[in-house]
Amino acid sequence: MKFKTWLMGSVLLGAVSCMTGCGNGGGGSSASKSITVGFAQIGAESDWRVAETVSIKEEAEKRGVNLKFSDAQGKKENQIRAIRNFIAQGVNAIILAPKEETGWDSVLKEAKDAGIPVVLVDRGIKVEDESLYATLIASDFVYEGRMAGEWLAQKTGGKAKIIELQGSPGAAPAIDRQKGFVEVIDQHEGMEIIASQTGQFEQEKGQKVMEALLQQHGETVTAVYAHNDNMALGAIQAIKQAGKKPGEDILIVSIDAVKSAFEAMARGELNCTVECSPLLGSMAFDSVEALLAGKPVEKKQVVPDQVYDQSQATPEIVAGRKY
Ligand code: AHR
Repeated sequence: MKFKTWLMGSVLLGAVSCMTGCGNGGGGSSASKSITVGFAQIGAESDWRVAETVSIKEEAEKRGVNLKFSDAQGKKENQIRAIRNFIAQGVNAIILAPKEETGWDSVLKEAKDAGIPVVLVDRGIKVEDESLYATLIASDFVYEGRMAGEWLAQKTGGKAKIIELQGSPGAAPAIDRQKGFVEVIDQHEGMEIIASQTGQFEQEKGQKVMEALLQQHGETVTAVYAHNDNMALGAIQAIKQAGKKPGEDILIVSIDAVKSAFEAMARGELNCTVECSPLLGSMAFDSVEALLAGKPVEKKQVVPDQVYDQSQATPEIVAGRKY
């Protein structure tokens, strides 16, 4: 029944988009006008996540999509419940930002059986059957970890005693950012991770973990690698409270490139941030429209990232940051 709806929608949307030139080319497309899309978001644990939510909501509004939004408050079970609700409501497509890599097989099978395509944004998953989702739009987290490691190796001449603040356990960015970073530091005898703990991608938790780790390793640590900017900002507070200078006594490299990280770089407190764009709204709805129109969509769409250091934290660049 639902599959039929999707097919009928495909034909209808195909016809509409062909009348408008067989393309969707971004904003204002009439192709999305009559569709309903469910977005199962993780929560609001970081500036990055908030920016991603805004990007998806703004793009839906621009395209006239009826968006059903669910904030899972950081719980995978809530995301699974939200997906089931979306299925029950007969949405045309689902956008999912999966909290963790595993545990999605059953619910995505239910979506597939209902004929509802699923677009993954930001994080990848591990499923038995890859056809359970249509496409993944995300950054290359291993590459980001490598870039962070390479920046630190170059800056320190390959000598550092590092505290690693990990993202939430089981999340693709936590797993892959560690992998990429370790790949690089393993090539330098003088680089060592002396402690590694999760700060759950949250600023407050990052600060608490760093406070505790400084008690143990305050005399030896020379660098912090945080899996996201918010945890780095928390670490900066902890380092200051411990009477040290973040960015000088202890070098700090993190990932995301949110505006507050640029402000911290401008103050000299953060040394480097590797970009991970949360502005995924346009790509997500381009994919939804294409899928509903029966057009092919790449299984993985990689979002390009770049590295920023303090020299790029100029007032113009800081002012121009969109998130
Ligand atoms: O999945 C992307 C990560 O999730 C971002 O780096 C982090 O800030 C967020 O919470």
